[in-house]
Amino acid sequence: MTISVDRKRNHVTTNTNTKPIVEYKNVHKSFGDVEVLKGLNLDIMPGEKVALIGPSGSGKTTIIRMLMTLEQPTSGEIIVDGQNLWHMEKNGKLVPANEKHLRAVRGDIGMVFQHFNLFPHMTILQNCMTAPIQVQKEDKESARKRSIEMLEKVGLGDKLEQYPNQLSGGQKQRVAMARALVMRPKIMLFDEVTSALDPELVGEVLEVIRDIAKEGEMAMVLVTHEMEFALDIADRVIFLDNGVIAEQGTPSEVLEESTNERLQQFLHRFRN
Ligand SMILES: Nc1ncnc2c1ncn2[C@@H]1O[C@H](COP(=O)(O)OP(=O)(O)OP(=O)(O)O)[C@@H](O)[C@H]1O
Ligand SMILES: [Mg+2]
Repeated sequence: MTISVDRKRNHVTTNTNTKPIVEYKNVHKSFGDVEVLKGLNLDIMPGEKVALIGPSGSGKTTIIRMLMTLEQPTSGEIIVDGQNLWHMEKNGKLVPANEKHLRAVRGDIGMVFQHFNLFPHMTILQNCMTAPIQVQKEDKESARKRSIEMLEKVGLGDKLEQYPNQLSGGQKQRVAMARALVMRPKIMLFDEVTSALDPELVGEVLEVIRDIAKEGEMAMVLVTHEMEFALDIADRVIFLDNGVIAEQGTPSEVLEESTNERLQQFLHRFRN
């Protein structure tokens, strides 16, 4: 591990020899006439925990959807673990990536969505086992064993044979997390994973994310409105506004010390 946060001195120390696990290089993204991202430059280090905050419509989801290959940048590059995500080399030239290339690079990335997206006709164990078997060609027994481990990790070891509609929202979201973890991603993306939950179920889901974060080695990008949570687990907080990174730094630099006016307006809404 090469990143540590010195909470007392309040800064992130990174070993400069380590290469980022993700690099966004001058990424622009438009939908029709609307330019949502106006030249995003962002490096994420292995194991780093990044909280992404900003007003509705500022492009937070778009940033992580592009990394998950669900949305294509209009221009610029995204590099994952040294590999160009949206382009590949062919005869010495960079050409648009084909599906095989996208799938291979995407293999490093896991995502948990706001709406769990579980398969309703499968038990929660089957939900977790499917991708390792289908996508990673893992043998069934080993996929089963690891899926059980992950479901135990998120506190659902006693629900293996239940179906999603038999679970609470918080439990479904924990299945979604186990299902992503079983793919052994190097980067996990969380898009407002608690915002569709009843308030009393939020805590159990944040607790699981906190546990995963503590294990350390996986990079995490969290889009969240839970400022206290961001303050607690993030190494870095990024405030996105008008298509650019308007402020970034340690949680206390951004959430407590920054004088950026737009950020103050944004945070004000959470303090009432
Ligand atoms: N597929 C799409 N087609 C057209 N416009 C889109 C599409 N996806 C996103 N947008 C627009 O891009 C902008 C950024 O959207 P995005 O979902 O990334 O914002 P966000 O920061 O995640 O907002 P929220 O906090 O509400 O989730 C918005 O104006 C949105 O309407
Ligand atoms: Mg969003």
